[in-house]
Amino acid sequence: HEFITKIKYIDKLQFGNYEIDTWYFSPFPGEYGKARILYVCEYCLKYMRLERSYKYHLGECEVRRPPGKEIYRKSTISIFEVNGKDQPLYCQLLCLMAKLFLDHKVLYFDMDPFYFYVLCETDKMGSHIVGYFSKEKRSLENNNVACILVLPPHQRKGYGKLLIAFSYELSRKEGVIGSPEKPLSDLGRLSYRSYWAYTLLELMKGRCSAEQTSIAELSEASGITPDDIIYTLQSMKMIKYWKGQNVICVTAKTINDHLQLPQFKRPKLTIDLNYLNWKPHA
Ligand code: COA
Ligand code: NA
Repeated sequence: HEFITKIKYIDKLQFGNYEIDTWYFSPFPGEYGKARILYVCEYCLKYMRLERSYKYHLGECEVRRPPGKEIYRKSTISIFEVNGKDQPLYCQLLCLMAKLFLDHKVLYFDMDPFYFYVLCETDKMGSHIVGYFSKEKRSLENNNVACILVLPPHQRKGYGKLLIAFSYELSRKEGVIGSPEKPLSDLGRLSYRSYWAYTLLELMKGRCSAEQTSIAELSEASGITPDDIIYTLQSMKMIKYWKGQNVICVTAKTINDHLQLPQFKRPKLTIDLNYLNWKPHA
C-alpha cells in the first residue's frame, strides 16, 4: 500500500508563467493526485486539473500576494509572514505544492504550530512566490527552519541563501542560536554549508588571528550553533580535535585563499536589516 500510494503521477506543475517538472510524490487528494499536469494559481494556490478551469480562475481570482504581513521589503524583494493558525488553507496548499520538490520531509496537516515566511518578487502585476521556509513557533531544539524551498525556475540565483540568512536574522532578534531541522536534503545541506562556510570565513578573517578565536565566540557572533560550526570547519579542514576539545586550526593565509575560491564567493543576495519590520512574538 505504502508503495502504491507513493507513485508520482503529477509530472508537471503549471504555476504562474512556469511549467515546472515535479520531483516527488505529493498527496493531492483523489483525482488531483492522478493528474499528469496540475494547474496551481500562483497567488491563492488553488489547484486545478483542467486548463479550462485554470484559465477561468485566473480571470476571477483577485488575490495578488500571500496573506499575512509583509515584514520585509527592499526593492522588488518581499517576505511575508503567514501564521498557520490564521491561514491554514493557504499554508496547507503551500505545503502540498512544496512536497512535489521535497523528498523525505513529512507534510504537516496541522498548520497551527508554524509560521511560513514567503519570499516574493513583486512587480506591477503582483507578488510572485519564489520560495519559502516554515518555522515552528515553539521549537524545543531551537530549530529556526522546518522546511525550506525555492521553486526550481528560481534556484541557483541566491534566493535559498537569502532565506537562510533571513532565518538567522529572525533568530538573532529572538536571542536564539538556531539551526535547521535535520535531516537536510542534499540540496539543503549544500546550501547551508555554503552559507555557513562564507559566514564563518568572513568572521575569522576579521579576527586578527584565527587561532585566537573559539567556536563559542564564532557561534555568538554568527548565530550558528557550535555543532554546525564544527561540521563546517571540519569540511574545510580547519579544526583539530586536541586534548578532548575541538580547536580551530587555520592561518590567515588559508582563510584568504579560501575566500578567493568560487565556492566561497560573496552571496548574490543579502538581507538589509533596515528593511526588516518584525518583532519576536510574545
Ligand atoms: N548543485 C551544486 N551546488 C548547489 C546546487 C546544485 N544543484 N544547488 C545549490 N547548491 C549550493 C551552491 O553552493 C549554491 O551556491 P552558489 O550558487 O553561489 O554556488 C548554494 O548551494 C545555494 O544556492 P542558492 O541559489 O542560494 O540556493 P537555491 O535558491 O537554489 O535554494 C534550496 C536552495 C535547497 C532551497 C533549493 O535547492 C530547493 O528548494 N531544493 C528543493 C527542496 C529542498 O531540498 N529543500 C531543503 C530541505 S532540508
Ligand atoms: Na512540508
